[in-house]
Amino acid sequence: MPSVDTRISVLDDRARWNKKYRGAQAPRRVNKRLTRLAHLLKPGRVLDLAGGMGQNARWLAEQSAQWRVVVSDISDEGLSHAAPYLPCVLANACALPFPPNIFDTILCTRFFDPRVNFAALLAPGGTVFFETFTVADQRYYPAFNPAHRFDPATIPAYFANLELLHLQETDNGHRAYVTVIARRGARIADGENTFQLR
Ligand SMILES: C[S@@+](CC[C@H](N)C(=O)[O-])C[C@H]1O[C@@H](n2cnc3c(N)ncnc32)[C@H](O)[C@@H]1O
Repeated sequence: MPSVDTRISVLDDRARWNKKYRGAQAPRRVNKRLTRLAHLLKPGRVLDLAGGMGQNARWLAEQSAQWRVVVSDISDEGLSHAAPYLPCVLANACALPFPPNIFDTILCTRFFDPRVNFAALLAPGGTVFFETFTVADQRYYPAFNPAHRFDPATIPAYFANLELLHLQETDNGHRAYVTVIARRGARIADGENTFQLR
């Protein structure tokens, strides 16, 4: 059971994001690295985690019927942009209403919370496309909440139990971010239980 403080901070985040998305005209652009690297991802059930207005999810779903995509986010205003096209689930990324080991691919872009456990959500052989702002981004956006900046030095721990397929750090003079594609092993080793969600 999350603490009262955690629940209040989720409600604050929801209000903040709802305000940003309210009246927003068009979703942001589709993630370019996703469009280039989607061939590395496993088709099937896909979760766009903290997917906002769902533009990445929608792009993937439009590529072929083999991508069966659901978008989840804490912002109902964000999801209202995706809902005409895709199934949506209003949920906190740290308390998702999905069974473990269910998704073939997870997209997670411009969102980082160290409590999210990708391996627990992925089916064997499943992949994750993760891209978010790093600690080096502080020089461009000093006001950004440091709790949501990703430190690439934590990649081995954060992606433990997953095999790295692609790793790229980018600093384009405006933003600094990391792009990671990782895969869960195709077989469950003898004696290994399936992962449990926290
Ligand atoms: C920068 S936006 C990224 C949206 C989308 N992934 C993209 O790349 O356009 C961050 C998103 O995280 C969502 N978010 C923030 N805290 C969250 C949480 N605890 N659980 C789920 N979504 C959350 C916000 O509502 C927002 O849509």
